[in-house]
Amino acid sequence: MTIRAIAFDAYGTLFDVYSVGALAEQLFPGSGKALAEIWRVAQIDYTRILTLCGRYRNFRLLTEDGLVHACKVLKLDLTADKRQQLMDQYDRLEAFPENLEVLKALKSSGLKLAILSNGTPAMLENAMQAAGYQGLFDHVLSVDTVKKFKTAPQAYQLGPDAFGMPVTEIGFVSSNGWDVCGATWFGYQTFWVNRAGKVLDELGVQPKGEGRSLDDLLAFVAA
Ligand code: LAC
Repeated sequence: MTIRAIAFDAYGTLFDVYSVGALAEQLFPGSGKALAEIWRVAQIDYTRILTLCGRYRNFRLLTEDGLVHACKVLKLDLTADKRQQLMDQYDRLEAFPENLEVLKALKSSGLKLAILSNGTPAMLENAMQAAGYQGLFDHVLSVDTVKKFKTAPQAYQLGPDAFGMPVTEIGFVSSNGWDVCGATWFGYQTFWVNRAGKVLDELGVQPKGEGRSLDDLLAFVAA
């Protein structure tokens, strides 16, 4: 089945969530890497707990909650100034270096492109500006409109609704294994950017394609 449009996850896929570790290391020498990792785990855990309980608090607030939690776990003194610096850094996370050229190539091949993310519209806008992604995406879809985080079906439904196409004709690209599983169940043609060479979750579902960087997506789409 031909892919006519592609929805991209944002955090981890387009923007490197662990790049915040560099500033974290400056602020908390020796703890930057651990802080970035614990922060990300808490942030995603909180999305799941809230959505499973039918509650919602936006992703910026959960990101800040995750930061506070990670600092408590590591017994780091998160002053108001450090908290602000780290949250500001989340608005300008590094984009993975190959992305821009791949996105431009996909766009010029005539595919429709979207971001479909747990992030708030403002977070996504800021990250896109910082990465120089203006004008590349036809839609920037935030789960904030449905108040449920991925992997809720209502979140994945944003893609077909925005593109006006059946989900089976839309690609979905994520570096997060759990996101790839959710999107595959939902019906997307999924591509796992397995940047870290991880093992897929034992959920009985396989992405349609897999690669180690966004470069590998071009061959998947052309096949
Ligand atoms: C996102 C996070 C979950 O962008 O990676 O939706």
